[in-house]
Amino acid sequence: MAQLRRQSVGKQKVAVVTGGASGIGFEISSQFLSQGYQLAIVDHDAKALEKAQNMLAGDIGECMALVADVTNGAQLKNAFQQIRERLGTVDVLVNNAGISRDGRLVNMSEDDWDLVVNVNLKSQFLCCKEVVPDMIAGGYGRIINISSRAWLGGFGQANYSASKGGVVSLTRSLAIELAKDGITVNAIAPGIIDTPLLQSYSAETREKLAKTVPARRVGDPADVAQAVLFFASEQASYVTGQTLYVCGGRSLSSPSV
Ligand code: NAI
Repeated sequence: MAQLRRQSVGKQKVAVVTGGASGIGFEISSQFLSQGYQLAIVDHDAKALEKAQNMLAGDIGECMALVADVTNGAQLKNAFQQIRERLGTVDVLVNNAGISRDGRLVNMSEDDWDLVVNVNLKSQFLCCKEVVPDMIAGGYGRIINISSRAWLGGFGQANYSASKGGVVSLTRSLAIELAKDGITVNAIAPGIIDTPLLQSYSAETREKLAKTVPARRVGDPADVAQAVLFFASEQASYVTGQTLYVCGGRSLSSPSV
């Protein structure tokens, strides 16, 4: 019979969330703090970041806020240096920052392609490079990359879908490379989640979108945060390279609906 093991009381884990000033990233940040993690949020929107930090201030853990563009290697180097100096080695990295610039291929500019691929995919490569050496040295790490159900393909989303498909491939490759070092790398593919982005659509459009979800509702950022907490936990040590859909069953139907 399996023995119940006493929970080890180690140091407070340090988590970094990119794009933590808004939407899904904010909710993940809030959940980490309420679970007692030490937290750093990285975002390029200084005003939103300050607001987010103030809102999170009442939580129990420490929350650092750093302004950086996740496509800029030098800015990230500086931000992660500050995190290391104040909080120590990063245990958990959540690559969440992301944007969309939808449009049909014939109308999509090279800039729209580059921006979306850089923010959604290159940023994850850059952030992983900042934390992985320390994780290897410590023999422990959890990396969670936010992809999207749209990686399956979406009309008018060539740049977004390709970037999110790249996230899945990056996740699988790093999982293979880092498994022997005690580092897991997993991805989450959310469906339609109720963030400021979705709230900018009309009530009618939101209702139409909700009807395309087998669960008949759009998701809440907390639905995604719960999946992140699982991948971030010590207990998920034998789960790596996986992409978990958090989409109310929408990945099971045609990607075009
Ligand atoms: P959001 O727009 O509410 O939050 C994104 C955050 O990323 C913002 O705080 C923004 O300032 C930050 N950010 C954007 N570009 C940045 C850059 N260059 N450098 C640093 N920070 C930057 O978006 P939401 O909805 O919370 O999305 C979070 C993640 O979830 C994204 O990767 C998105 O693609 C993904 N996702 C969202 C879905 C949804 O329905 N909301 C569905 C599937 C995936």
